Amino acid sequence: MVGAARRLAVLTGAGISAESGIATFRGAGGLWEGYRVEDVATPRAFQRDPALVWRFYNLRRANLASVAPNPGHHALAMLERRFPPGNFTLITQNVDGLHQAAGSRNVLEIHGAIRRVRCTGCGLNEDRGTAPLPDLPKCERCGALLRPDVVWFEEMLPADVWRRADEAVRASNCLLVVGTSAVVYPAAGLIDVARAGGSDIIEVNLETTPASCHADVILRGPSGQLLPRLLDLLPS
Ligand code: OAD
Repeated sequence: MVGAARRLAVLTGAGISAESGIATFRGAGGLWEGYRVEDVATPRAFQRDPALVWRFYNLRRANLASVAPNPGHHALAMLERRFPPGNFTLITQNVDGLHQAAGSRNVLEIHGAIRRVRCTGCGLNEDRGTAPLPDLPKCERCGALLRPDVVWFEEMLPADVWRRADEAVRASNCLLVVGTSAVVYPAAGLIDVARAGGSDIIEVNLETTPASCHADVILRGPSGQLLPRLLDLLPS
């Protein structure tokens, strides 16, 4: 299916970065076990206690400085090179930037990026990499409080990025769904879009998810092992 697809879309979630040492959200040891979503990942939480929210994100930013892409990220970057530009789109819910670090080019970050900050006053958006930030970072231009440039619960996804993701899935012949629990919408709705459009759906995950019943093929296991094997099976 991957070899035959003229246009391929990929949807990734936290599971693809698990083998890089980044915690997933749900399940044992997941981030949402140690933190309540409503304390650290909603606009109201940020209004109520921005220092707590920044502590959470500063910890995650600091962790990023010591992690690297794993063979799953690298396999997707190599897969992209088999397609003409524009025929391969990697849509990620991850905010860790590891796909780009692995060399992926056409990446749509539908939940934002943790390396970027956005000013709550003037809207300035800046890439700060993984450099440490103050407990309550302020905008250099207008002095207002900065926030992480990520999508929180109860917020809209960035409209343009979302439109491009939706279009890419509609145009695809095959959707590869990797390492996502497929329970957070609208992201998980891309699987329904692919199904409605008749795309082949391949799921790579350790576990059964709500996407599994829509998948034509299920690859059960760690993406860092299965994606390189999938790549090896493709004709050179
Ligand atoms: P989840 O933590 O909900 O799900 C991670 C998925 O990855 C699970 O289905 C695991 O079985 C699977 N998994 C774990 N390790 C794996 C591995 N090595 N190989 C393959 N699969 C593996 O993470 P997401 O689905 O990304 O949103 O969560 C979606 C959204 O919910 C996130 O973007 C975030 C979160 O709340 C926001 O913060 C807006």
